[in-house]
Amino acid sequence: MYTGFLHLHKTAVLLFMALYLFKWIALTFNMEGMKAFFAKKGLRIFEMVISTLFLATGIYLMVNLAPEMRSNLLWIKIALVLASIPIAVVGFKRGNKILATLSVLMIIASYGLAEMHKKRPAVNKAETVAAATGVDIYKANNCAVCHGQDGKLMLNGAKDLTASTLSRADIEHQIMNGKNAMPGYKNSIDTGQLKLLTDYVQSLRNNN
Ligand code: HEC
Repeated sequence: MYTGFLHLHKTAVLLFMALYLFKWIALTFNMEGMKAFFAKKGLRIFEMVISTLFLATGIYLMVNLAPEMRSNLLWIKIALVLASIPIAVVGFKRGNKILATLSVLMIIASYGLAEMHKKRPAVNKAETVAAATGVDIYKANNCAVCHGQDGKLMLNGAKDLTASTLSRADIEHQIMNGKNAMPGYKNSIDTGQLKLLTDYVQSLRNNN
């Protein structure tokens, strides 16, 4: 469910960004034919549908996201998206190129922040540095928030770690790079910790 909404959100965001990029090009370079095309009823309905989908899936994902995972980057992203809406409405309706450009830049910046958020997950910094055993590393990096201390929680689309069949190399790859709602831990876990953490993740299978 959560993973499905995440894919729907990403698709809506990409369509939304593409649409606004074309609208911005039409406005900036005074392309009257293209402007008329975007003013057509079908296009306006399409725009309404993807904007609604974009916001509704975003709200769902945010409300259901484990509170520990809500980083400052995420709040800044949401503030930028919300602030860009009235600026875009006024900019494109009145044909104000400066406001239209500003709104498109804000949307692109918030997309960049979302990507950064995935690569810089909320971790307990001091604990991460000090963590010396697999279970401590698991705790310090908030793995338990989604997977539970026993690996079975499955929050935010997380997989049951006790039922996992992934190879050691795949586990390590996924911890470092993330997948779907799981962030990547490249920037907070070193290779020594990765080895201990992977041992711990694999040991959870024995509790199945
Ligand atoms: C924000 C929630 C979240 C956090 C925090 C999180 N994970 Fe995950 N994890 C997921 C999700 C979602 C998946 C499933 C990804 C997919 O395949 O769609 C997953 C999958 C995995 C898998 C693969 C299981 C399989 O069989 O496919 C492993 C291993 C794993 N996580 C380990 C960890 C470890 C170790 C940590 C801490 C460093 C961690 N996770 C932190 C959400 C999370």
